[in-house]
Amino acid sequence: MQQRQLFVTTALPYANGNFHIGHIMEYIQADIWVRFQRMQGHKVDFVGADDTHGAPIMIAAEKAGITPQQFVANIAAGRKPYLDGFHIAFDNWHSTDAPENHALARQIYLDLKQTGLIETRTIEQFFDPEKNMFLPDRFIKGECPKCHSKDQYGDNCEVCGAVYAPTDLIEPFSALSGAKPELRSSEHFFFKLSDARCVAFLQAWTQDGRLQPEVANKVKEWFSVRTNPDGTTSEGLGDWDISRDAPYFGIEIPDAPGKYFYVWLDAPVGYLASLKNLLDKRGESYDDYFNNPNLEQHHFIGKDIVTFHTLFWPAMLKFSGRKTPDKVHVHGFLTVNNGEKMSKSRGTGLDPLKYLSLGMNPEWLRYYLAAKLNGRNEDVDFNAEDFMARVNSDLVGKFVNIASRAAGFIAKRFGGQLGEVSADGQSLLQLLREGLAPIAKLYDERDYAKAQRDIMALADRVNEYVDANKPWELAKQEGQDARLQDVCSTCIEAFRVLSCMLKPVLPSLAAQVEGFLNIAPMSFVNAAQALGAGHGIGEYKHLMQRVDIKMLDSLFEAPEPVVQALTPGGEDIAPTISIDDFAKIDLRIAQIVKCEAVEGSTKLLRLTLDVGEGRMRNVFSGIASMYQPADLEGKLTVMVANLAPRKMKFGVSEGMVLAASHADEKAEPGIYVLQPWPGAKPGMRIH
Ligand code: MSP
Ligand code: ZN
Repeated sequence: MQQRQLFVTTALPYANGNFHIGHIMEYIQADIWVRFQRMQGHKVDFVGADDTHGAPIMIAAEKAGITPQQFVANIAAGRKPYLDGFHIAFDNWHSTDAPENHALARQIYLDLKQTGLIETRTIEQFFDPEKNMFLPDRFIKGECPKCHSKDQYGDNCEVCGAVYAPTDLIEPFSALSGAKPELRSSEHFFFKLSDARCVAFLQAWTQDGRLQPEVANKVKEWFSVRTNPDGTTSEGLGDWDISRDAPYFGIEIPDAPGKYFYVWLDAPVGYLASLKNLLDKRGESYDDYFNNPNLEQHHFIGKDIVTFHTLFWPAMLKFSGRKTPDKVHVHGFLTVNNGEKMSKSRGTGLDPLKYLSLGMNPEWLRYYLAAKLNGRNEDVDFNAEDFMARVNSDLVGKFVNIASRAAGFIAKRFGGQLGEVSADGQSLLQLLREGLAPIAKLYDERDYAKAQRDIMALADRVNEYVDANKPWELAKQEGQDARLQDVCSTCIEAFRVLSCMLKPVLPSLAAQVEGFLNIAPMSFVNAAQALGAGHGIGEYKHLMQRVDIKMLDSLFEAPEPVVQALTPGGEDIAPTISIDDFAKIDLRIAQIVKCEAVEGSTKLLRLTLDVGEGRMRNVFSGIASMYQPADLEGKLTVMVANLAPRKMKFGVSEGMVLAASHADEKAEPGIYVLQPWPGAKPGMRIH
């Protein structure tokens, strides 16, 4: 077989949050494929990166009070535990904000410009006069022009599903500042996808068999004239707006100050940037790498980003004179426990780090997902009961059991040495070896589900052999030593072949098996080479636990509202209350009109408070150790306005001022009166 050179990527995740289980599924799918190709003797470079640019990240950073660079660096710092934890072995993880990406994106743009495919046009867009920036559709809200629901986004209505332009919204406002946006014109850069050269190229490229059939069919629709939701028609491919105006976190367009590449222009370039960074580290040439005529470029992505990868990206590459992708492998979405839709930013109830922290085996998840992924872009559901059943009955019950049933006898009775395998054993082993090539083909086609089914069917055959020969009974019978060694040696060899077949999915278990069997790393190339009589194996240690239902219960348990162990402020957070409970407490902004010391008390101050009722309230507060009366006069604070009046030694207290303190006064003395932010007025209610 000719050695293939594969360049493999997964979609670059937005650096606006941690990985969710959908990301992990994509990485596991690609990682299995990569490991499999390496086991075929092929060369693979497998890279990822954070997708760092765009308005949402810029705005999130601003809210967090840090620079976008710091923001994405924080996200990047959190990636490793997920990748290591699930045995996802990227050769490199980079960033679209890295210098390689700035340079490559600008060069690709300049090359496209040379080809005559870049054009500028003046367009009208909403501008936020307070924030001084053009607003992305997602940051414009208003009333839906169709169903009149309030507070809908600029591109579509979540209530009636209508799709429209932000300019169609009734009473639009900026979601950033609340200001009324103004229409302003600005010059934008366009990639002329409607150019006849692009259309001809893409029609051929997307329909030449490189895409999954269901994906190619979907893509076909985008070339034809279609009717938009508003009744207008579009002529096939439209030009693509690739620029955004400052302020924008992105890559500045050459010779266009204040203009940046739209995030989706530089994001896929990040694939190349990550590869270049890897090659530089290895001291290899990027140009030589792409000059290799055998190089194959494979992208694993989800079904929501097909347009970018089958139209924009190949066109960018083609017309800038670069190699286009060989394959784009599209997967469906992962849902959890019967289709709960996963939000892109919040994920689902299945938190990958929580999974790991509960001590759940990452290879259970790898196996379970492999058993469900079939290479088409269908959605996949993670179902807790199904997960437990598959792992416990297939992986542990059928596969791991084979080794545990045979290894003990080999160790105890035969000094760890394998014996001769007789005819019935040989025919079983022959059946397994004949399974290697078809299973390899299934992995290559990404039909992992069928591969796992076929592997388990072979494991069934091995277990039938065990049950027919009953080594535990042979062990008790006189004169059956040779047969016992024969049967157990057959089982160990069968287990080796099955382990090899499962190795792309279970890399860590396979490594343990290699240690236990005393063998070189298993691959599909060397898999048919049987362990001979006389081969010594090591001591068998149990390879995999069963899934415990309690783990799954904990996994899907709602998270504790607060980390209790930290006992914030010296005391645990009080039990949860409903919003109705909270509404019973009438908190008001109060002005401290007068403040005096209380004679006979070292603790109390007497406050005269205005809560906008047209009368004053008298309130005693235990804050004398902290404040001089004069310092409080005129200030605003917060009070409980509907607390029952309380008669005290010094008079009636008509409410309570809010102040913060540590539960243990000695551990941390001090009591701090609350003060509202500027703008609050006496009498305003706190909600
Ligand atoms: N940043 C873009 C991709 C740029 S590629 C040059 C993006 N990021 S993302 O974080 O939203 O998604 C990253 C990948 O995760 C995509 O392939 C997406 O389809 C995939 N998934 C997001 N949610 C998913 C599920 N619920 N299930 C499976 N994959 C999911 O899009
Ligand atoms: Zn609507």
